[in-house]
Amino acid sequence: MSTSGTFLTDIKEIRRRARQHLSEGAVTQNYEGKVEETIALLNHAVATEIVCILRYKFHAVCATGLASEAVKAEFAQHAKEEEQHLDWLAERINQLGGKPNLNPDGVISRAASEYVEGEKGCDHARATRADSGAGGRARERHARPPRHS
Ligand SMILES: [Fe+2]
Repeated sequence: MSTSGTFLTDIKEIRRRARQHLSEGAVTQNYEGKVEETIALLNHAVATEIVCILRYKFHAVCATGLASEAVKAEFAQHAKEEEQHLDWLAERINQLGGKPNLNPDGVISRAASEYVEGEKGCDHARATRADSGAGGRARERHARPPRHS
């Protein structure tokens, strides 16, 4: 008998804690990060994603050559993936009480990746090098939504 009474008490305590955690929002008492620094870092990542999206979209449109359709599709897919990363980052910044910096003014200076078009139409070699640089590494890092505890 006392076991079921204990169980009921535990359920009430679990519910009380759950309500408390929900009311605390994304930044709980256990949050060990510095929220402002985290938001600043996430906003640098936001700028990087924006540059990657634009670069991939350019190459998705301008790819030329025998394999251009496959290359266009590949770049278009990369652009979609980078856009998903941008959405996740912006949402997380919002959850932390910050504002995602989507202002196009200064985005290049805030980004870790380059915007590379090439001189004649699309330069796949340069695009591929840029892709394996900051954008490519960003894709590897963002296989899942970014989590910051
Ligand atoms: Fe990304």
